[in-house]
Amino acid sequence: MKDTKQKLSNLTIFLHWTTGLTIITLAVIGVYMSENEAFELYPIHKSIGVLIFALIIIRVYWRFVNGWLQPVTQYKAIEHNLAKTIHWVLIIATVVMPISGFIMSGAGGYGVSVFGLEIIAAQFDPIAKEAIPHNAQLAGFMAQTHEIAGWTIIVAIVLHITGAIKHHFIDKDNTLRRMLGKN
Ligand code: HEM
Ligand code: HEM
Repeated sequence: MKDTKQKLSNLTIFLHWTTGLTIITLAVIGVYMSENEAFELYPIHKSIGVLIFALIIIRVYWRFVNGWLQPVTQYKAIEHNLAKTIHWVLIIATVVMPISGFIMSGAGGYGVSVFGLEIIAAQFDPIAKEAIPHNAQLAGFMAQTHEIAGWTIIVAIVLHITGAIKHHFIDKDNTLRRMLGKN
């Protein structure tokens, strides 16, 4: 079933909340671990990031097959355009984050594993006790991309949630209820 103005499909609702809440969790872990050098969290962050990529791809595919959501009622053009722009930023950053993280870790020689299952082997210098990059330039570029896209998605999520709260409590419309499957 496709999304309609009145009701969203179960797939849209499922994919929005699974990927959305996982991305919020990854962003919180990502900022915390890199600011505090909490290296024990890195494997968890990477494992969840790789796994959620599968759902992200299905989500993006579904969004293009299904089309964007229709607003529940008529809004001012500026409000509608702002929401649309933020949806685009969110969906693009959602794809950029796992890809840049994967390449940054792989090319940087740190390796990528999913809960212990090795996907790209780490390459460590046992004497200097540091990673030997396969491609330092690529790793550096991807690290910058991951950081910039990371902060962009955090700002976009804050604006997005502010919008959802505004619709629910100020406009008192069905926008949030529709995404919760409660209409
Ligand atoms: C949707 C998926 C992901 C989200 C939302 C996310 C988010 C973030 C954020 C916000 C940061 C902090 C900003 C920064 O320092 O770069 C971060 C750091 C990091 N992420 Fe991700 N990430 C995701 C997937 C991945 C994946 C798949 C990998 C690797 C396989 C990865 C590896 C890392 C690493 C190594 C850091 C620390 C970088 C540093 O120490 O400077 N991330 N992530
Ligand atoms: C507590 C957190 C969140 C709330 C309350 C929330 C709420 C909503 C609501 C009510 C809509 C429907 C908008 C409409 O009808 O036009 C929506 C759509 C959307 N949200 Fe969220 N959202 C949250 C987190 C996220 C996160 C973290 C992402 C990042 C990936 C995200 C990405 C999107 C996108 C891309 C859409 C457009 C429809 C779709 O592709 O599913 N949301 N959100």
